[in-house]
Formats: sequence, structure tokens, C-alpha cells
Amino acid sequence: MSRLQDKTILITGAANGIGAAAATRFAAEGATVIATDIDETAGKAVVEQITAAGRSAEFLAHDVTSEDAWVQVTDQVRAVHGRIDVLVNNAGIYLIAPLADTSVEDWNRLMAVNVTGTFLGMKHTAPHMAASGGGAIINLSSIAGLVGVAGHTLYGASKGAVRTMTKDVAAEYAAANVRVNSLHPTYVNTAMATYGAAAAGTTIEALGPVLSPLGRIAEPADVVNFLVFLASDEAAYLTGSEYNLDGGGSTLISVG
Ligand SMILES: NC(=O)c1ccc[n+]([C@@H]2O[C@H](COP(=O)([O-])OP(=O)(O)OC[C@H]3O[C@@H](n4cnc5c(N)ncnc54)[C@H](O)[C@@H]3O)[C@@H](O)[C@H]2O)c1
Repeated sequence: MSRLQDKTILITGAANGIGAAAATRFAAEGATVIATDIDETAGKAVVEQITAAGRSAEFLAHDVTSEDAWVQVTDQVRAVHGRIDVLVNNAGIYLIAPLADTSVEDWNRLMAVNVTGTFLGMKHTAPHMAASGGGAIINLSSIAGLVGVAGHTLYGASKGAVRTMTKDVAAEYAAANVRVNSLHPTYVNTAMATYGAAAAGTTIEALGPVLSPLGRIAEPADVVNFLVFLASDEAAYLTGSEYNLDGGGSTLISVG
């Protein structure tokens, strides 16, 4: 297991859910992981587990909506490790609300984390990756950034913006060997999906067969497997692409 040997990987939102699982797996694949989050207690616990297993990781407190925080975090990583090979823009928040009940405050809060956070992450890493010969950026969008879902005007807009920004930055940095791709999962078994199912008056178990012919929602490991591939040199020819990770839910029709 060394598909990410000697890579320095910065991952946001790494204290919980997909980010915590990814940080753990990246380190197991040989990477030095910089795990960041606003949730310091959970983030430090994730890093302690990684280092206790003899792997390389550190935690930095980091609010992705703050440009000052991005400057501080990326300066610190470069000062200590010399470079950032991979950025995973994973931090995100979710809200399901009817259009008529969606407030401007909710809009601004969600856009700040999901869109501004992703924009700032790319802004403060891509030029340095370019200067050091290349790198990879992976942005967590969602199936809701590709298809329409009732109650998802705000979240869908934010994840649609992530999808398009991914392609714009990929085009700008392709010649510098900085690859930028977006990932579009269906529900993944984390607190976020538990909230979503409850908001829809159901459970993640009941939603499995509704969302995918495979009969289940995704597990964090399903997402992390693909993140490892996209972060690795195995994905050297992939940039500007969107990867649908929805168990066939948006592309397969079931007729009985
Ligand atoms: N779980 C799903 O069903 C699902 C589906 C599709 C896409 N996604 C996307 O995957 C990503 C991870 O989702 P998850 O399910 O692991 O969510 P999660 O809620 O389990 O974890 C999200 C993490 O982001 C952190 N975070 C929130 N605001 C932050 C901020 N301002 N700065 C830094 N960190 C912040 C939280 O503290 C938390 O640790 C998100 O971008 C989400 O939109 C999730």
C-alpha cells in the first residue's frame, strides 16, 4: 500500500465523515497528510489515530471560508514540507429546504463554505503546484451538482459552482501539469446523509434501494477508493473531469 508514497496531501473537513476516512487511507498509502477542519477536537483525534499507527499526519485548525486562514495554512505546510502535491477540497455543509423557505443568510453561509472555500483552496495551492512541477486538486461536489433534486436549490447551486470552477481551473493550469477533477457522490454514510434522510422523513437504510440499483448508499470507503486513484500518478491523464459516484442511481432505470 504505497500508491501515494512521498506525497504531501492537504485535505479540508478531515475531522469527520469522508475527510476523516480519506486522511486515514492517504496516510496508509504513504502520504504525509495535513488534515484541517474547524472541529479541532475530532480533527486531532483522527490525526492521533493515524500517527499511533505509525503513519504521517498533522492537524491544523482551519476555517475554509477565511482567506487569511488559507494563507496561514498553505504557508505553514510549504515551510515545513516544501510543497503541496495534492489538495482535496472536502469541507462542506448541507441544507435541505423548500425554495420559498430558503433565506439569504442560509444562502450566504452555504456558499461561503462550499463555494468560497473551494475557490480559495484552489487559489492558494494551484500556483505553487505549478511552480513545483505539478499537482492534483480534487473537489468534492455531489450528484446534486449534476441533477435536480427538490429542496436542493441552494446546495445544488453550490455544488454546481464547484463542478464548473473545477473545469475552469483545470483549463488554466493544464499546461502546468496541475490536474483538477470533481467527484459527485450520491448519499454517503456519514452524518450529512443521516441528516438528509431525516429531513426527508426516512432513513439511510430505506433510501439505499431508492437511490441506487445496487441497493445501498455509498460508504466513505467507496469515495476514498476513488480519491486515492485521482490523487495518485495513476490518474496522470485525467483533468477537468467529473466523476459520478452514485451507484448508477442517475443513469440506470429499473423497470420492475
Ligand atoms: N455524505 C454525503 O451524503 C455526501 C454526498 C455528496 C457529497 N458530499 C460532500 O462530501 C464532503 C464531505 O461530506 P461528509 O459527508 O464527510 O460531511 P461531514 O458533515 O461528515 O463532514 C464535513 C466536515 O467539514 C467540516 N467543516 C464544515 N464547515 C467547515 C469550514 N468552514 N471549514 C473547515 N471545515 C469545515 C466539518 O467540521 C466536518 O468535519 C462535503 O463537501 C459534502 O458536501 C457528501
